[in-house]
Amino acid sequence: MRLQNKTAIVTGGASGFGAGIVKHFCAAGARVLLTDRDADKGRETARALDQSPGEVRFAAVDVTDPAQVQAAVDAAVERYGRLDILVNNAGIGQRPTALEDTTDEAYDALYDINVRGVFVGCRCALPVMKRQGGGAIINTASGIALTPRPNLVTYAATKGAVVTFTKGLAMELAEFNIRVNALCPAAGDTPMLAEFMGGQDTPDNRAKYMAGIPLGKLVTGDDLGAAAVYLASDEAGMITGTCLAVDGGRCI
Ligand SMILES: NC(=O)c1ccc[n+]([C@@H]2O[C@H](COP(=O)([O-])OP(=O)(O)OC[C@H]3O[C@@H](n4cnc5c(N)ncnc54)[C@H](O)[C@@H]3O)[C@@H](O)[C@H]2O)c1
Repeated sequence: MRLQNKTAIVTGGASGFGAGIVKHFCAAGARVLLTDRDADKGRETARALDQSPGEVRFAAVDVTDPAQVQAAVDAAVERYGRLDILVNNAGIGQRPTALEDTTDEAYDALYDINVRGVFVGCRCALPVMKRQGGGAIINTASGIALTPRPNLVTYAATKGAVVTFTKGLAMELAEFNIRVNALCPAAGDTPMLAEFMGGQDTPDNRAKYMAGIPLGKLVTGDDLGAAAVYLASDEAGMITGTCLAVDGGRCI
């Protein structure tokens, strides 16, 4: 019950890491507003969860639309009276592409969702957190921000932006008792992995990814969920501006 009486918004909560974070937040007693632009999948994920002792509600939200994000923050505050935790997790991946073949459209979509989405989420949540005297923000970055790889340069750069944004905002918000941290997972056992594999999620490709991770396995939603519960909890009260690698040693 490390998150008992805490209210959270988790973006991109319908799938993969986000669904794992919502699951672990519920198990720790949090009341969660799960948001995602995929309404069908979001509702299905919320329905399938064992929510007890926490609680989950779903709202269809595109993180790039400030009006929708603001409405979600307002809905959480109206229902629960406060917003303690914001997890900016929604993101898109990139098919391996040489830089000269990367289109303006692909670049814009990556920055719009992976970077501007984090900015918009924080901007909407901050007034509430400042008013109530504190809060915890967690941004899902990536190990690739710390050790970039060829042909995923634009995706990696969006995650590098999230890391710098996290550290800067942690400095800006410390005086308001708002902690800002990032999670940096390695390749995850989520639907996004197929994108990084060029659409070919095969046992061979998985073996190649796992070979690059010293612990020899992919990151799961449970791994991210456990790390997020810790960073969101009062136990992490002295931790801000950190980028926690949840990567089985990949970034050493
Ligand atoms: N899977 C990996 O290998 C990996 C590794 C490192 C970091 N990450 C990051 O982890 C986060 C979660 O990824 P995942 O692997 O769980 O992928 P996923 O595709 O399983 O889940 C991403 C979720 O985000 C939602 N989403 C996408 N764009 C959105 C938008 N504009 N507004 C609202 N929701 C939106 C999708 O509908 C989906 O439910 C992402 O930020 C991703 O970049 C993933």
